[in-house]
Amino acid sequence: MDCLEALTGRRGVLRYDPRPVARAEIEAVLAAAIAAPSPANLQPWAFVVVTQPELTRPLARYLLDVQDEKVFQAFLGLRPEETERYLGLYEQFEAAPCFIVVCLEPKAQFALVEHEAVLRDWSLMCLGAATGNLMAAAHARGLGTRWFGGFVLDDGGRMLKEWLGIPVEVEIAAVTPLGYPADATPIRPRVPQTREELAAFRRSDQPALARLLKGKLPVEEVVHFERWNGGSLHVHL
Ligand SMILES: Cc1cc2nc3c(=O)[nH]c(=O)nc-3n(C[C@H](O)[C@H](O)[C@H](O)COP(=O)(O)O)c2cc1C
Repeated sequence: MDCLEALTGRRGVLRYDPRPVARAEIEAVLAAAIAAPSPANLQPWAFVVVTQPELTRPLARYLLDVQDEKVFQAFLGLRPEETERYLGLYEQFEAAPCFIVVCLEPKAQFALVEHEAVLRDWSLMCLGAATGNLMAAAHARGLGTRWFGGFVLDDGGRMLKEWLGIPVEVEIAAVTPLGYPADATPIRPRVPQTREELAAFRRSDQPALARLLKGKLPVEEVVHFERWNGGSLHVHL
């Protein structure tokens, strides 16, 4: 699989096979993560790899509880029956044999407050790049991942930090399971989003999740050559 295929073919995986992931595979995807660029090459990342079932199971359970209460109900405003239906998709999530917790570990303190704020933004951006690298590398190795960020809605992820013994000055930026997808064909083809669907999306009065885009916006909707072309696609949820 070439790099482009690894990037465009990846999908978030929710159902996992319990088969463990070899240490060499875990290290390979982490090598891809730390190859990401970072401001002044400060590499403001750290990763906690969780593989012991007595930790992975409660961690998965916790992410699902957050998904239910904080993401589906509070953040997206879903009705109970919708929440139930979407949670069904996470049926084999708890079988995930490994979780990678992506942390923001500032490696340097800057004197000026405004520089600290800029550095934090830049650091978060490069953690995104590192996580993206990790996910694409995992996909290239036949492994599934899914970016989880909902835990920040639960007191900034304080409980996760306590569980994993993460120091106070370190923040959790993302969590992803890492494991072999349970389904033989885990990758749903991406549904191209048409202009008409976009228009309906903007008018819709359905609950929040139903309004969320089902596929990826096509390149011509999000790429502007030479100058910004047309208005903004911004919508209010
Ligand atoms: C910053 C961020 C936070 C996310 N948080 C969650 C989450 O809490 N729960 C979840 O199931 N998916 C989460 N996702 C995954 C997205 O829902 C998913 O990437 C998106 O629907 C696109 O699907 P794809 O990954 O298959 O392309 C998150 C993704 C990002 C980038």
